[in-house]
Amino acid sequence: MSGLKISLGSGGVRFQGWTHVDADPQWQPDVTADLSQPLPFPDACADFLQSEDFIGQLSIDQADAFFRDCHRVLRAGGVMRLLTPDLAQLVAMYQQRDFRLRDLWEREVGIPLRTRTLGELVHKAITFAQQQSFYDEETLRALLEPIGFVVKRVGYQQSDFVELQGLDQRSPDNAISLYLDCVKSPGPDH
Ligand SMILES: C[S@@+](CC[C@H](N)C(=O)[O-])C[C@H]1O[C@@H](n2cnc3c(N)ncnc32)[C@H](O)[C@@H]1O
Repeated sequence: MSGLKISLGSGGVRFQGWTHVDADPQWQPDVTADLSQPLPFPDACADFLQSEDFIGQLSIDQADAFFRDCHRVLRAGGVMRLLTPDLAQLVAMYQQRDFRLRDLWEREVGIPLRTRTLGELVHKAITFAQQQSFYDEETLRALLEPIGFVVKRVGYQQSDFVELQGLDQRSPDNAISLYLDCVKSPGPDH
């Protein structure tokens, strides 16, 4: 098994030529697995990993273990594309009383707000569904870089790697996503 492209926490999203992993069998993933546990793949079997709007479903300790296992599964020089809602954007929009945040919530998330205040929205954004953690770039770097990932912040659908271009499901018009390409450094320590 080598040269795989693996989508982690894929839900109903499908990419041609990729292996899709999710815990929920209703999505009929290629591999049904709980990603809070070790990944069911051998070392260095993957060229590319992709995960969008999944890591918030793990606690920060589970995310740390998940990233370590992603690093194990990637070959040296392999890349993980990671998207997650951006805590920094959420907080900035709250502080600036940017009501586009509420438009976005009501249009894209649709969970009713009782008061429709930005404060209630921030609370709901952090606690709704099975959400367990909410990241900014600094925190993700603090988790990923010591493991041996070289982290590059990129834009929507932007990547130096053609295999990772065009995968993003959420744009700045419909989400507050953070877009990262995380390269497994081939350094001797990792
Ligand atoms: C918000 S959806 C994102 C789906 C897709 N990646 C997308 O961008 O639309 C989160 C997905 O993570 C999956 N998930 C949540 N906890 C999981 C776990 N512990 N192991 C594997 N998958 C999990 C859910 O079943 C769901 O399909």
